[in-house]
Amino acid sequence: MNIGIIFHSSTGNTRALAQKIESKLIERNHSVTLRELKTDKPVKSGKQKNDFTITNLPDCADYDAILVGSPVWAFSASPVVINAIESLQNISGKIALPFVTMGFPFPFMGGTSAIRDMNKHMNQKGAILRTGAIAPMLFRNFKKSIENASSAAVEQL
Ligand SMILES: Cc1cc2nc3c(=O)[nH]c(=O)nc-3n(C[C@H](O)[C@H](O)[C@H](O)COP(=O)(O)O)c2cc1C
Repeated sequence: MNIGIIFHSSTGNTRALAQKIESKLIERNHSVTLRELKTDKPVKSGKQKNDFTITNLPDCADYDAILVGSPVWAFSASPVVINAIESLQNISGKIALPFVTMGFPFPFMGGTSAIRDMNKHMNQKGAILRTGAIAPMLFRNFKKSIENASSAAVEQL
């Protein structure tokens, strides 16, 4: 499959997960394009809903599946990711899989609700939803969490 991985990362955790997913997909002979979302001004909190512009939003026309990654911010996805999903073109009828990293140790402390939020927006765009993957960080082995979440993501494709 031709797969696009689109993600936002402020401190590198979601980038690490995105890169791990990318390498596992390449191992399985998928063609992968990784795109880290950039904004015209820094976005540091969930309160910045619409006071920024994403400067490198991809067109998903060439992708068979789109994976969207976000840090968990205040029990939701980052506004950059929500804004990106709302603006993405050509995701209707495509497989869409959300993935998140989070600071707290358990998915119910923000990861589950962030995934739900992302899936709600992707559903509104007509995408074919996957359950998604969550990498909790605190108190856990970071590498293991990334390993587990990347495997979970790849298995859903
Ligand atoms: C503004 C803000 C809000 C956050 N809210 C949560 C939260 O509700 N639950 C949680 O588990 N972690 C929360 N975190 C921690 C991040 O989700 C976590 O550090 C994540 O891995 C960061 O990803 P990144 O390095 O890709 O930016 C928050 C971090 C920030 C900066």
